[in-house]
Amino acid sequence: MTILCVNIDHVATLREARKITEPDPVTAALLCELAGASGITLHIREDRRHAKERDLELLMQLAKTRVNLEMAAADAMLPVAVKYRPHQVTLVPEKREEITTEGGLDVAGNLAKIQSVTESLQDSGIRVSLFIDADENQIAAAAETGAEFIELHTGCYCNAVEEEEQKRELEILVRGAHIAQDLGLRVNAGHGLNYRNVQPVARIAGMEELNIGHSIIAHAVFVGIERAVKEMIALIK
Ligand code: PXP
Repeated sequence: MTILCVNIDHVATLREARKITEPDPVTAALLCELAGASGITLHIREDRRHAKERDLELLMQLAKTRVNLEMAAADAMLPVAVKYRPHQVTLVPEKREEITTEGGLDVAGNLAKIQSVTESLQDSGIRVSLFIDADENQIAAAAETGAEFIELHTGCYCNAVEEEEQKRELEILVRGAHIAQDLGLRVNAGHGLNYRNVQPVARIAGMEELNIGHSIIAHAVFVGIERAVKEMIALIK
């Protein structure tokens, strides 16, 4: 069964637009859980521009489901993960100037580094997922690191405008998931998923967890967070 983890970064972004205390992403997380979300995802960037350590600390105390921390594979981030011990860390590429995570992690090109960060996290009892494109080389490299999960980057599929292109991109994801599972990896997916494009990805065989943020928070502005989460869960199921 595919589950929904709601990415609450977009609530933190709104808070930081004013640099005050509201809206609080932790309150949003608890409401997402009440509406049936199976997990909460947040991305603490090296520059802390959206989510803060305070958000992770409170989430670890209050969340009833699972916390998935997205972070760069950087030595400076390791102490944060080890201190709070979220259920899962998803390693993502990070460029300071980007608006959101733009591409998948280059695991093949940085194998030793990603392997070492993965091992350090696992030594602290944290399971590791690598956010990568559905590319055969990257998937094979991900398996070499010893990470338990990959998160397939769904951005190209979500950006596809024409039906044919969307179909092609979906096939790439289906094949990627298959290759990963054959190598013993478990598979999550996310980035750019919304109420119109989520179902084919949720139906990919063995798909475990979808990390969805922007579309849910955007919809919540109009219909409320409870309804926004429930509508997404209904589509995924
Ligand atoms: N997964 C990863 C690794 C991400 O970096 C993001 C964006 O922060 C998401 C999922 C969620 O993407 P979106 O906000 O487009 O749903």
